[in-house]
Amino acid sequence: MARSAGAVGSPERNRLGAMAICVTGGAGYIGAHVVRLLERAGHQVRVIDDLSYGDAARVGQAELVQLDLADTAELPRLQAALDGCRAVVHIAGRKQVGESVERPAWYYQQNVGGMANLLLAMRAQGVDRLVFSSSAAVYGEPKTGQVREDIDLRPINPYGESKLVGEWLVRDAARAWGLRGVNLRYFNVAGAGWEDLGDPAVLNLIPMVLQRLYDRRRPAVFGDDYPTPDGTCVRDYIHVVDIATAHMIAMDYLERDSRPFDAFNIGTGAGTSVRQVIEMVGEVSGLDTAPVVEPRRAGDPPVLIGAVDRIEQTFEWKAQHDLRSIVDSSWRAWQAGPKRIV
Ligand code: UFG
Repeated sequence: MARSAGAVGSPERNRLGAMAICVTGGAGYIGAHVVRLLERAGHQVRVIDDLSYGDAARVGQAELVQLDLADTAELPRLQAALDGCRAVVHIAGRKQVGESVERPAWYYQQNVGGMANLLLAMRAQGVDRLVFSSSAAVYGEPKTGQVREDIDLRPINPYGESKLVGEWLVRDAARAWGLRGVNLRYFNVAGAGWEDLGDPAVLNLIPMVLQRLYDRRRPAVFGDDYPTPDGTCVRDYIHVVDIATAHMIAMDYLERDSRPFDAFNIGTGAGTSVRQVIEMVGEVSGLDTAPVVEPRRAGDPPVLIGAVDRIEQTFEWKAQHDLRSIVDSSWRAWQAGPKRIV
């Protein structure tokens, strides 16, 4: 059961000590990995999550404050929840591109409104360090396959736009009141660090392939006539543990660097095609994953790969996991869950 904001201000809060780290969205897929790594590194962690998608069982020993960031009436509770926190990792947000196209105003309310409320509460509480989960969706459909952080940002859907506005808010708060912020632009996050922390949603390529196999259907390739080596889209797949590690290092960077804000790609710098991913699922599972080709999905850029020299040089961070590790851990976590493929 969720431990509620009632814990804030109670003796239970004191076990967190003076300087906890707050993780919004900490009960979700990526957030729970960040929380687990922070806890293992000895940090005291407070999770803020509305549990609309998150699961209280994923936050471990961390204190959980159940709260909707986008609800302005909750600002006093949000501010109280930040009491005693040194830094915030802001991961909470809506992340479905198609849904954002159908409900744009709601996406802005959730993602931009949530960020605005968070920054209001941080300023009021004197918490001035923020690591923000942004997305490669801010790039839209770039002309070059491998994108650098400083190219023109032209998101092509409300989800990407809401992430870009979030980045602007970080920049503007840095200028206005001295927030120290880092925007981390995730590429294609996949895999699982632990079998109980697999991605529970079926919204991205690897879970969608596994769902098809579970349903005894062939995996789908959405378009094989793109201008890429095998005709299928190429993406930069990054292991969720590498993503979580980058957050830890970003927080460390905020302690030592004097730049007020910055943005970094978190990817591997390497591209993998849809076909290659599906073949790897076949290799690790031993199943026949020969796909069927279906029509292109609207809005898919042919190639999207992150240039990663900036994060590698600034943070001395480099992704450690390859495609096999990503797919293998996804497969194991899937098989440990309720939809075991037999
Ligand atoms: N795909 C298939 N078959 C499937 C599922 C996906 O061929 O069953 C293809 C897609 O068409 C795409 C590729 O696999 O070419 C990757 O698709 P995902 O949905 O896994 O990921 P996207 O690259 O579309 O989106 C991801 C994140 C978004 C983010 C975007 C920007 O999910 O949140 O990257 O980088 F906005």
